[in-house]
Parts: sequence; structure tokens; C-alpha cells
Amino acid sequence: MRILLYRGDGIIEPWARDFAAALPQAETVLWQEGQAVERCDYAVIWAPTAALLEQLKNVKAIFLMGAGVDALLKFGDALPDTPIVRLGDAGMAEQMAEYVAYAVLRYFRRFDDYERQARQGVWQPLPVRAKSEFTVGVLGLGKLGAQVARALRQLGFPVRGWSRTPKDLPGVDCFAGMEALDEFLGGTQVLVSLLPLTPETSNLLDRARLSRLPQGAYLINVARGAQVAEPDLLALIRAGHIAGATLDVFRNEPLPAPHPFWGEPRITITPHISALTLREEAVRQIAGKIALLEQGEAVADVVDFDKGY
Ligand SMILES: NC(=O)c1ccc[n+]([C@@H]2O[C@H](COP(=O)([O-])OP(=O)(O)OC[C@H]3O[C@@H](n4cnc5c(N)ncnc54)[C@H](OP(=O)(O)O)[C@@H]3O)[C@@H](O)[C@H]2O)c1
Repeated sequence: MRILLYRGDGIIEPWARDFAAALPQAETVLWQEGQAVERCDYAVIWAPTAALLEQLKNVKAIFLMGAGVDALLKFGDALPDTPIVRLGDAGMAEQMAEYVAYAVLRYFRRFDDYERQARQGVWQPLPVRAKSEFTVGVLGLGKLGAQVARALRQLGFPVRGWSRTPKDLPGVDCFAGMEALDEFLGGTQVLVSLLPLTPETSNLLDRARLSRLPQGAYLINVARGAQVAEPDLLALIRAGHIAGATLDVFRNEPLPAPHPFWGEPRITITPHISALTLREEAVRQIAGKIALLEQGEAVADVVDFDKGY
């Protein structure tokens, strides 16, 4: 069995080592720009070029070394018909739950205010926020969103979730479809995005939608930056309608030096680290799926490009 490996960032040697250990019967081939692809059974890739995708029409499946597939949407009809399989959780859901729980608790328990006060040498207890009125709304109830919703429930927050198709999650008030979005937003104190970036979710959180959130609401975006109209968010924070935001993802990454988010103290910025690909778990998952395909079995997490995720 031959497996082609490629990463747009060039960091491929550790993956090759781990695949050689996980699938000792397979030969791994490291592809480089300008090379012709020799006969391969599978490809494991991240951030591919059009030239590479063009040559992957005959592999049995293409595996992605990540959970998001939006970067592939731009290839449109040039995408091969080959099944493309993304990572499903692979250790990312737990990281997301940690990140979002921290961000929610930091705002709920006013650690951001206390950090500011401490820097000014101020000793001043602040009014306690009522947990029963502190509803967290999770956009996207897939692999990552569902685990985040569960973790927030365990912390005792009222939790609601929004997805494309109806869901039934214990203890989570579930909403589905565009027609339910305004009602969902209207009762959300902290909004968390865990949606994939698709034509439907691009710019979803614009001025009109963010204005549906109650006065003093807070935004946590750990999905994709292009879901948020950044100038609208900034204007609503400066106007006091939105209290602040914790943002891990941005329309342009790295966030450019002159971007106004850098200078806004009510925005907390992290460099797209809320859930990193854990190589060991990813290799184990992909090797397991290759074994299933070799036995003629179906695998989970095949991307549906009609839906866009
Ligand atoms: N910041 C980071 O480090 C990082 C790391 C990993 C992933 N991510 C992002 O997280 C996203 C989610 O990952 P996942 O594995 O949880 O994806 P997933 O399992 O595919 O779940 C996606 C969820 O979004 C919902 N959804 C999609 N389009 C929608 C729409 N138009 N309206 C309403 N709901 C919609 C889906 O609804 P249905 O259930 O009805 O299909 C599903 O519940 C990824 O796409 C990626 O962009 C970020």
C-alpha cells in the first residue's frame, strides 16, 4: 500500500515517522510541488495545491489532517470525486471544551474586570452575575459543538444550541434552521461559534444578527473568522451593546499588525490555538479508517461538499 503525504506548511517528517509506525506495511511517499504523483492508494494532506488535487483522482480516499474543510471549497469543480475524509474530533473536542469553558468562566466570574482592576491597584469586589440568567448559546452542534455544550451544562450554565437539522441533546435547548436563529440569539448571553465556514455561514454574524443578542452579551469565536463581520463587531463593542469577545480565529490570519482588534481591551485574542491537531491521535484515527476501507467498510466524517462541511 502506498500513502502520499503532503502539508502546505512543509512540516511532514514527523507525520511520515508516525504513519510508518502505525502502518508498517505501507510505503509513505512525500509529495513536493512540481512532482508527478506516482500510483498511490491513499493521500493524507493539509493545505493542498490545485496541482496536487488534480493528480489525486485515482486514490481510494483523501484524508485531511484537520477538521475544517472550508479551504477546499475554493477548488469547486476541480475537487476530485474521490471521498475526502476530515478528522472527527481526534482530541479536538476536549481542547475546545477547555478553551470555551475558560472563556465563559472568565467573563461570568469577571476575571477580565479583576485583571484590569489589579493592574490599577484596585481592591473592589464587583456584583455577582446570576448563573440562571447567563445562557450560553452554541452555534453548531457537531463533533465539537456538542461536547462544548455538554461541558457548559456540567458547569451549571443554561445552554442552548443551534444547528441546521434538529438535534436532541440532554439538558440543551435545541434550535434548528435559519428561521429559529433570531429567537436563539435573543436569549443568548454568551454566543459561541462552532460552525463550519460555508456560503451559508460566511458573514452570518453581522450587525443585524449581533444586535439580536441582549445588551451586554459576549462573543466567543473558535470556528472561522469569516463568520463574523469584524467592523460590525467592533462597532457594537464600542457602542456598548456587546460587552466583549474572545476570538481565536480571524478573517485574515495571522491577524495583521494594524488591525483595530489589537488595540481593543475588551477583545481577547489567541492565535488559532483553541483546538490543535494532535498528530498522534490524528494518525491513529486515519490509520484506523484506512484499515476499515481496506476491509470494504464505510468510514465516518466523509465531507459532503453539497452541504459544504
Ligand atoms: N479554531 C480551531 O482551532 C478549530 C479547530 C477545529 C475545528 N474548528 C472549526 O470548527 C468547525 C466545527 O467542527 P466540527 O467537527 O464540530 O464540525 P461538524 O461535526 O461538521 O459540525 C458542524 C455543525 O454545524 C452545523 N451547521 C453547519 N451549517 C449550518 C448552518 N448553515 N446552519 C446551522 N447549523 C449549521 C451542523 O448542523 P447539522 O448537525 O444539522 O449538520 C453541525 O451541527 C470546523 O468546521 C472548523 O471550522 C476550529
